[in-house]
Amino acid sequence: MKDSYGRTIDYMRISITDRCNLRCKYCMPDGVPMVPMSDILSLEEIVQIASCGAKLGIHNIKVTGGEPLVRKGCASLIRELKAIPGIECVTLTTNGLLLEACLQDLLAAGLDGVNISLDTLNSERYDAITGTDGLATVKRAIDLAASASLPVKLNCVSLDWDETFAGDSQSADGSWRGMVEFARNHPVDVRFIEMMPIGYGRQFKSLNHQELLENMKRLYPDLTADSGSHGPGPAVYYRIPGFQGSIGLISAIHGKFCENCNRVRLTAQGYLKTCLCYEDGADLRAVLRNGTGGQVLEEELTSAIRQAILKKPNAHCFERPEEMTEQHSMVMIGG
Ligand code: 5AD
Ligand code: SF4
Repeated sequence: MKDSYGRTIDYMRISITDRCNLRCKYCMPDGVPMVPMSDILSLEEIVQIASCGAKLGIHNIKVTGGEPLVRKGCASLIRELKAIPGIECVTLTTNGLLLEACLQDLLAAGLDGVNISLDTLNSERYDAITGTDGLATVKRAIDLAASASLPVKLNCVSLDWDETFAGDSQSADGSWRGMVEFARNHPVDVRFIEMMPIGYGRQFKSLNHQELLENMKRLYPDLTADSGSHGPGPAVYYRIPGFQGSIGLISAIHGKFCENCNRVRLTAQGYLKTCLCYEDGADLRAVLRNGTGGQVLEEELTSAIRQAILKKPNAHCFERPEEMTEQHSMVMIGG
């Protein structure tokens, strides 16, 4: 459906858990408050919401977390989401640690692609950022997914790691250059994401993507815009001749893309958020659990989603943080 600014909303990000097996410094360095399982949507409730979303024109779903693969039943949820009439594409955002073990089930469930969070290729830095010695595991998962022909995108937050880890000597593989080089011999999209001032992210200074692009062009003078399709989303892609993968820039701060926004976000606790920056949205868990059941419930749920989409704000206000009303951390929102 279209929102009140004429944007087509066809993409729903669904967080299925706040929990994660990593402790990334900019995300949840101290873990998350324990929430009783009863506060979290059941997998059946998630499917109910997605079905109503599909009736309103949601075609693409991203399953996120926390770390979605720590929740039991993730693959069977994906199978059920794929079976909803109108849902064309279901993808997953994961830190990759459990991907190797789950890959066959995910492929069998019909998963259409995977986004793997990976900020550095330097294992000491990986440990320092995530609190876990997992780089080799994640790299293996990337290779395995790519060799199974599953489209793979890497998400890499754009931080000046040399500044963040002051005193740490600069190494090419630990910086953005290492991540760009990864695309030379891997058929994956390496996407840089400007750090958004949400939760712990506020304490870090993002690289400016206009500057990053200039620096990339200096290093790779043959870099050209990539007009090929990489799926719906705000990333702008580039190609470097001879590279198997593409480079993507997601520039929420220095390249505001809100006029093309196509998404809403469902939190693990069943709140439908319409913009990262604001608390606006709808408590779908309340609708589900206070509802009268059956057909009436489906209509109530669909109507609550429609009303929330119609009130979707026109743009984020990260450049004016005092106007942000969202107080939750990224892990509660689902990235
Ligand atoms: N800004 C931008 N990206 C973030 N992520 C987590 N916190 C932030 C933030 N404040 C990224 C993670 C992961 C994706 C789901 O969101 O690195 O790749
Ligand atoms: Fe986990 Fe992703 Fe947050 Fe890291 S950024 S702690 S992998 S949810």
